[in-house]
Amino acid sequence: MRRIGILLSGRGSNFEAIARNAASGRLDAAIAVVISNRPQAPGLELARSLGLPALAIPSKGLDREAYDALVIEALHAHDVELVVLAGYMRLLSPGFIRAFPMRILNIHPSLLPAFPGLDAQHQAFEYGVRVSGCTVHFVDEHLDHGPIVMQAAVPVRAEDTAESLSARILAEEHRIYSEAIRIVLSGRYRISGRRIVTEEY
Ligand code: GAR
Repeated sequence: MRRIGILLSGRGSNFEAIARNAASGRLDAAIAVVISNRPQAPGLELARSLGLPALAIPSKGLDREAYDALVIEALHAHDVELVVLAGYMRLLSPGFIRAFPMRILNIHPSLLPAFPGLDAQHQAFEYGVRVSGCTVHFVDEHLDHGPIVMQAAVPVRAEDTAESLSARILAEEHRIYSEAIRIVLSGRYRISGRRIVTEEY
């Protein structure tokens, strides 16, 4: 079974969706470990309740490279092949990217390259876009920037609030993240510049 490692900082609903798909066999992968920089993250508690290895690695007092070295060590100790960021609110160091080249995925709640950074759904709503969505991409050293594996569009409705839009985007996140993981684990894609070309489109 292919082993994935989840990094999260908060609620963990994307992690939960992936865990359900892995448990039901819709996603042919095992969650080897769940790691959080925040010991109080609800996602960690959720991992424990699902019987998955869950580690808190607090970052206090450590610089980025030193902290990431601890996380890399834990991922290796659990034989992780693919790292899945699921609401992990830290930039990864160059050392982290080198340790898992094209083996780290992130999900972001906008159609990148629009609205990188924090509170992307609110940024998009306030900007007045008619369509937003979410993006799964490989992680590089820049924020919300690496090659795109999958996107889903979510139309903005006249009656939307930032919250209602966020909820519909989140539902799409839960759908596409497992799909993107499946594609990456299958290896059935090639990279052309920034473009990920799959058999599916
Ligand atoms: C998700 O909406 C995810 O796209 C976003 O944080 C939320 C985490 O929710 N990530 C980012 O903004 C990364 N730049 P979750 O903990 O319920 O999965």
